Amino acid sequence: MRTRRPLIAGNWKMFKTCAEAVEAASRLVDLSSDANHTDIMIAPTFTSLALVSEKIAGSNVGLGAQNLFWESQGAFTGEISAQMLVSAGCRYVIIGHSERRQLFGETDESVNKKINAAIQSELIPVMCIGETESQRDADKTFSVLDKQVQMGLEGFSSGDLGSLVIAYEPVWAIGTGKTATSNQAQEVHRFLRSLIEKKFDKNLAESIRILYGGSVKPGNVAELMSMPDIDGALVGGASLDPEVFSKIIHF
Ligand code: PGA
Repeated sequence: MRTRRPLIAGNWKMFKTCAEAVEAASRLVDLSSDANHTDIMIAPTFTSLALVSEKIAGSNVGLGAQNLFWESQGAFTGEISAQMLVSAGCRYVIIGHSERRQLFGETDESVNKKINAAIQSELIPVMCIGETESQRDADKTFSVLDKQVQMGLEGFSSGDLGSLVIAYEPVWAIGTGKTATSNQAQEVHRFLRSLIEKKFDKNLAESIRILYGGSVKPGNVAELMSMPDIDGALVGGASLDPEVFSKIIHF
């Protein structure tokens, strides 16, 4: 029996205009109205957040952002604060996605500050971690993940992290069609849970939700979700089409 409530999260990345986002969100609300077995989140672009928030109000679809900046306001051209996300209707925020780490220079230090800002504003942080293909080939998967967790969560107490969600996304599986096997993913999720127990405590380790991400599709979600330490999915490409995403939600 599941002890943790699943979370199926869609990361829309840099796709969809405002009109397209509203239309997809509206369709998703209809398609997922019977899905009481899981939490659901979609993360559109910043420009669509407030509009999508209106569309999904009162439904079981929650709103997330794809990034934030840690300062609350000021001369930081182009950045968005946690409070601004809350005011646009967000409940979640994705932090440290591998595309942000690889293309926009995010580090474990910036991830740490962003998680702190999210928690201060009562946003649910979805912290993304994962190894590259060459790191996996060099047998460095566990040491890479250990460092990302240790540094990303440095300075917090277990009480601070009650809402934290971790998304394990092997970089080699994102947008490539290659998925980690359910056993490969389970092995990593188990490792992460024990890491949380060592760094914090058993309660947090048992309650924290650890999502898998990387080419999750309707055809592989059930197998992944059958693993004891996989509590949900962070879905990119397959979340863009509401019909397809709904199939994942109904794993
Ligand atoms: P993908 O992306 O499902 O398209 O592989 C996952 C992600 O980047 O979160």
